[in-house]
Amino acid sequence: MEKEINKGKIVVSKDGPYLVSGNLPLERAEIVVDENEEACCWKKGKKYPADESYALCRCGKSKTMPYCDGSHMAGFAGTETASRKKYLEQIDAKTLGPDLELFDSRALCANARFCGRKDGTWELTKQSEDPQAKKMAIEQVCNCPAGRLTAWDKKLWKVCEPDFEESLSIIDDPAIKVSGPIWVKGGVQIEAADGFVYEKRNRVCLCRCGKSTNKPFCDGTHTRIGFNPEKDGQ
Ligand code: FES
Repeated sequence: MEKEINKGKIVVSKDGPYLVSGNLPLERAEIVVDENEEACCWKKGKKYPADESYALCRCGKSKTMPYCDGSHMAGFAGTETASRKKYLEQIDAKTLGPDLELFDSRALCANARFCGRKDGTWELTKQSEDPQAKKMAIEQVCNCPAGRLTAWDKKLWKVCEPDFEESLSIIDDPAIKVSGPIWVKGGVQIEAADGFVYEKRNRVCLCRCGKSTNKPFCDGTHTRIGFNPEKDGQ
């Protein structure tokens, strides 16, 4: 069956919140680490009540997280500085393996760290004639919430992507005691404050600590400043 036409939308308001519409489900998602403290998988968390539209904080200061409470009016500068090029034009590194090709746009890194497990996604890509290495590389790519990494399966002639419905997750990263960005899944339309429409992608992360240098997208700053306004989703 054809996938339903996307209905969700996020508008980045000028120096204010993300205005979400289209009944987009909102829940929390936690980064789980293995015995070596390496990010290995996701655990679903609390679901928020369904709503046709809502406003999510992007200044990092709300007292009613993850929703906006007007705190941004105290003086939040939310100027969007991210590239407006399509992902394929933003790629700054490629790794060509026997069975996989790995593409990387480092500016989009949300520091979720799935790519560092075992030998790391780049090395696993180089070993991708080994089915286990290939499987692990694809799994790591698909776990990357920000869409920094993408992979092309040379055998199957297709892009490796998880099958996501349109939805949003607030990322928690308890292993390093931070809370992270908004994980936007399933190709939700994201519109800039000036009306520009960013490329629709299956996985992207929107900044909600207010400090990214690549707004509206996350650049991992939340991990460096210890952002955790809700104390691990409580
Ligand atoms: S954007 Fe409104 S309180 Fe943060």
